[in-house]
Amino acid sequence: MASPSLSSSSIIMLAVITYLLGAFTGSSDAQLTTNFYSNSCPQLFFTVRLVVENATQVEPRMGASLLRLFFHDCFVNGCDASVLLDDTSNFTGEKSAVPNNNSLRGFDVIDQIKTAVENACPRVVSCADILAIAARDSVVLLGGPTWNVKLGRRDAKTASLSDANSHLPPPTLNLTSLISNFQNHGLNSTDLVALSGAHTIGLARCTSFRTHIYNESNIDTSFAQTRQSSCPSTSGSGDNNLAPLDFQTPTAFDNNYFKNLVNQKGLLHSDQQLFSGDSTNALVQTYSTNPNMFNTDFMTAMIKMGDISPLTGSNGEIRVNCRKIN
Ligand code: HEM
Ligand SMILES: *[C@@H]1O[C@H](CO)[C@@H](O)[C@H](O)[C@H]1NC(C)=O
Ligand SMILES: *[C@@H]1O[C@H](CO)[C@@H](O)[C@H](O)[C@H]1NC(C)=O
Ligand SMILES: *[C@@H]1O[C@H](CO)[C@@H](O)[C@H](O)[C@H]1NC(C)=O
Ligand SMILES: *[C@@H]1O[C@H](CO)[C@@H](O)[C@H](O)[C@H]1NC(C)=O
Ligand SMILES: *[C@@H]1O[C@H](CO)[C@@H](O)[C@H](O)[C@H]1NC(C)=O
Ligand SMILES: *[C@@H]1O[C@H](CO)[C@@H](O)[C@H](O)[C@H]1NC(C)=O
Repeated sequence: MASPSLSSSSIIMLAVITYLLGAFTGSSDAQLTTNFYSNSCPQLFFTVRLVVENATQVEPRMGASLLRLFFHDCFVNGCDASVLLDDTSNFTGEKSAVPNNNSLRGFDVIDQIKTAVENACPRVVSCADILAIAARDSVVLLGGPTWNVKLGRRDAKTASLSDANSHLPPPTLNLTSLISNFQNHGLNSTDLVALSGAHTIGLARCTSFRTHIYNESNIDTSFAQTRQSSCPSTSGSGDNNLAPLDFQTPTAFDNNYFKNLVNQKGLLHSDQQLFSGDSTNALVQTYSTNPNMFNTDFMTAMIKMGDISPLTGSNGEIRVNCRKIN
């Protein structure tokens, strides 16, 4: 019963003290803000956008690859650019983890962005923030919605191969496990379905969907046959053959992914799972007919994902080269 008797000025004072304590201790409660670099690097957004624009013009798939990089960063101990660190003789990063090896791409484009940003504002902008902006720009350039990206993350001095192997969801998961994997990252089932909509762009390797197209029944027969024609049933030379995650418009950020799921034409087992359980069926159906609702929920979920355990204050560092610790 103490709080009702607090005067409003003492509440403000408490808020100020709490804020200052957070700032001095580098507390992880520190908030990301959309204007974090507005004084220190006013050219930031323009600079990133130019490189992403060029990269997606050269190869539209690159937009998908950059979006996925951000996801694989955030789901492994937070959005801290740990995913970008190269292995060295005395350091093992996350790049050779099962979900990443021979699969993650776009590192060279991140290098191009970092070079351009360092030229404009040396030693100011983190690689973790560059990933967040590049992911947003990629979505916009491929026709998706735009949102204000929260910034102020710093870069990790560590990475974890074993956490990359255990925290990223494999495509073999069922709906229950997908929901709990996302819950472990502070994301709910709405976020799961909306973020999975990222699979409206990009490609997957035969190894990622072989079992689904040969051994499962919740898939359209002729769609399965089409996919089988370029993905042999046994492992070997065809393992890395690629197929679009959204067979209709693989380079457009739209809601066709959800229409595919309703028609049993999801490429990954995990995709089709979203239309297999009571808790998410209705939402898949809604997004399949209401692109605005998908866009709104996708933006909300991207901002939530970008908030996962950032390093702020004096934690971490601003890497000069995204591939290595300073
Ligand atoms: C829900 C759980 C998820 C699973 C199980 C999953 C799994 C996968 C798999 C297996 C691939 C193909 C990798 C390969 O064969 O090389 C892939 C590609 C992709 N994923 Fe996911 N993913 C999930 C969620 C997400 C999220 C949340 C995003 C981003 C917000 C995302 C964005 C992408 C993109 C854009 C690609 C295509 C990348 C490219 O073409 O380079 N995924 N995902
Ligand atoms: C555009 O992208 C290509 C391919 O990644 C790269 O070689 C070239 O340097 C880029 N140009 C600019 C102006 O960024
Ligand atoms: C790892 O090796 C690099 C040189 O390749 C060296 O600069 C660095 O100090 C080493 N780090 C540790 C932790 O031994
Ligand atoms: C990653 O891929 C490379 C190239 O295919 C392969 O030589 C290596 O064994 C793979 N690493 C792991 C940990 O699977
Ligand atoms: C989902 O997968 C988990 C882990 O493999 C398993 O324990 C659970 O029984 C599965 N749930 C359903 C509904 O199939
Ligand atoms: C998930 O969280 C969002 C807020 O971020 C909320 O709007 C939505 O209703 C939640 N979904 C579920 C199923 O709880
Ligand atoms: C399909 O299932 C059978 C029986 O479990 C198994 O032997 C086979 O390897 C599976 N094939 C694929 C492509 O997953």
